[in-house]
Amino acid sequence: MPNKPNLEKEGTAPSIGTDLGLAARYLRQGLPVGMPTETVYGMAANALDAEAVARVFKAKKRPDFDPLIVHVGQKSPLQDWVREIPSEAQALMSAFWPGPLTLLLPKTERIPGLVTSGLDRVGLRMPRHPLALALLDMLDFPLAAPSANLFGYISPTKALHVREAFGPELPYVLDGGDCEIGLESTIVGFENGKACVYRRGGIESCALARVLGYLPEERIRSEEHPAAPGMLSRHYAPRTPLSILKADQPWPEPDSNVAVILPLAEVHPAHVKVWVLSENKDPYEAARKWYACLREADQAGFSQIFVRMLPEHLPFADALNDKFMRAADSADHWA
Ligand code: TXA
Ligand code: MG
Repeated sequence: MPNKPNLEKEGTAPSIGTDLGLAARYLRQGLPVGMPTETVYGMAANALDAEAVARVFKAKKRPDFDPLIVHVGQKSPLQDWVREIPSEAQALMSAFWPGPLTLLLPKTERIPGLVTSGLDRVGLRMPRHPLALALLDMLDFPLAAPSANLFGYISPTKALHVREAFGPELPYVLDGGDCEIGLESTIVGFENGKACVYRRGGIESCALARVLGYLPEERIRSEEHPAAPGMLSRHYAPRTPLSILKADQPWPEPDSNVAVILPLAEVHPAHVKVWVLSENKDPYEAARKWYACLREADQAGFSQIFVRMLPEHLPFADALNDKFMRAADSADHWA
């Protein structure tokens, strides 16, 4: 039988709505608010207020070595937050902001060290969800917002996911519906004047290359010095053991308590418990639905979940397969 979602905090769970004025009031008081973005939901707080930011770390049980992304609106004075914007960063902003691209740039004193975990660079991004943009426009400070999940768990793509995870430490969740992309932003930084990708996400490397004139190198696998903990090989993970279903691997036995997530529809034996992310074989739809499906499968009481990789030539295959492998319970998949 499916387990009930984690609502034991019912009664103290945050309220949900579309009241931008209320969200802005909480934020001005230094309290965090759940915020929709086109990628995943964030837990937002005043990025200039170290106490407000500390509340976010505490609520998420996030280690303080894991820096937060700072979200800016269309009127935000970027020169107040970063010391310099290289011309390539400027070109990427023009091409992809507002949108799912985070740029690591040298921070000014205005950004508290807690936000960047003491690092010299701050991750900046302008989200394109209309509620997030409207909220940012109402405020005279930027918003530090990590994904609104407990550290290491599956990212939230619906307001209800955020409500389920938190109690009174998060008074309000701004409901912007289901996230349009469903994968986190792509993180880009600069090393020796060259752009590098630190996390795969909603903007593909080939799209970055069209603007940069070269394919940026990746710095996405590092256990020792994770410049971005999204780089840890196990992250965004369910509690149920999850493995990759390889092409030559047999389907689960009948009556086994095992579920299979297929990103794209494919022929399978009738006895297999299957979630199909996209019946139309649309990789964008598969990305949009992945986290919500994984969460549902995780809460349904299976003893094992398998997921099929996306064929490599498809759009979003790099980013989505990367998420599948990080969610998997073993690091064996990393060559
Ligand atoms: O799509 C997104 O980026 C979402 C939405 C809410 O905007 N946010 C998000 O935040 O994914 P979070 O905290 O779950 O992941 C942020 C990643 C972390 O892996 C963090 O280490 C990296 O960004 N990051 C943030 N600031 C950084 C910095 N200054 N240097 C290196 N990595 C940084
Ligand atoms: Mg996250």
